Amino acid sequence: MNGGIILTYKSTNMKAIVLTEPGGTDRFRIDEISTPAILHDEVLVQVKAISINPVDVKSRNGKGVYGRIKDQQPLILGWDISGIVTESKSEKFKAGDEVFGMVNFPGHGKAYAEYVAAPASHLALKPANISHEEAAAATLAALTAYQALTHKAKVQAGQHVLIHAAAGGVGHFAVQIARLLGAKVTGTSSAKNKAFVAALGADEHIDYHGYDWKNSDKQFDFILDTIGGANIDNSLEVAKPGSTLISIPSGLSEEVTSKAKLKDVNGFFFMVESNGEDMKAIAELLEKGKIKAHVSQTFPFEEMGKAHEQVESGRTVGKVVVTAGR
Ligand SMILES: NC(=O)c1ccc[n+]([C@@H]2O[C@H](COP(=O)([O-])OP(=O)(O)OC[C@H]3O[C@@H](n4cnc5c(N)ncnc54)[C@H](OP(=O)(O)O)[C@@H]3O)[C@@H](O)[C@H]2O)c1
Repeated sequence: MNGGIILTYKSTNMKAIVLTEPGGTDRFRIDEISTPAILHDEVLVQVKAISINPVDVKSRNGKGVYGRIKDQQPLILGWDISGIVTESKSEKFKAGDEVFGMVNFPGHGKAYAEYVAAPASHLALKPANISHEEAAAATLAALTAYQALTHKAKVQAGQHVLIHAAAGGVGHFAVQIARLLGAKVTGTSSAKNKAFVAALGADEHIDYHGYDWKNSDKQFDFILDTIGGANIDNSLEVAKPGSTLISIPSGLSEEVTSKAKLKDVNGFFFMVESNGEDMKAIAELLEKGKIKAHVSQTFPFEEMGKAHEQVESGRTVGKVVVTAGR
């Protein structure tokens, strides 16, 4: 008997994937380092699954959020985790709770590790009916889609919405969330992913290869640009006057912002933020089966480099997840 106290195992050392310097995947090194100590309102999470995003790849290459975190050594990339609380200094969660979330984005998340010290306010309880892999996949990408569509754009029932890269991480959640909000949804992808985009609930599909945006007869109330560059100009060709265009890769250049204004389009960049309340809303949608994370590939912890190379290909369907843990 232990008097009802939950005994949890916590090692003083753990494995972590350290980025030695910006560059290729050969700059990752698995190190044995101290398990992090937690502060007030934080929990220690034993990581079971980590999801990989384009920003992980950009940061590995010295872009993305690398500049913000480069002076904090050892540098450990990653933000998206699902796992089990082993220690808590928060009233929100206790040892043994299964939790998931995007930790400390756009700061130093340190998710590529066996244990992560996470602010409790960035997490939610993992729905019992989904795996740690699915939960990890439904963090940064799902939050981006959720925050962009509900908080920033306030998509309304009956609106016609265009989701670019509908087969990708953000896009596949955005299609499902826009449909839940009652919008009519058009998704772009190449022809090979048309059936996948339709299965997410999209009403219409555009194969972006060779699509004539200038002469398109389509008009959208809201457009989520997940590509950037020329895709912003293409998007403005099909944006209704008074509509909203959110661009997430790198923002709108001043030129495009003024072009958007000329067309009476409200165009802006948007950056996802860690938020436990939004994670809770996503958890509810996952639990009720209203949205689903599609995990197309899973890699073991030791193959983080391969997971990065897959995301870097730009051809990922849904999400790529890395498993971790003892
Ligand atoms: N600002 C923020 O807060 C924020 C948050 C999340 C993501 N992002 C950024 O948003 C971008 C997308 O992220 P993600 O996680 O969704 O990427 P992702 O999962 O890597 O996207 C892969 C998908 O992109 C599709 N694709 C590639 N080129 C396309 C094109 N020209 N038109 C339509 N689809 C295309 C591919 O489909 P096909 O193979 O069919 O072409 C593939 O399924 C990245 O640049 C990322 O850094 C920003």
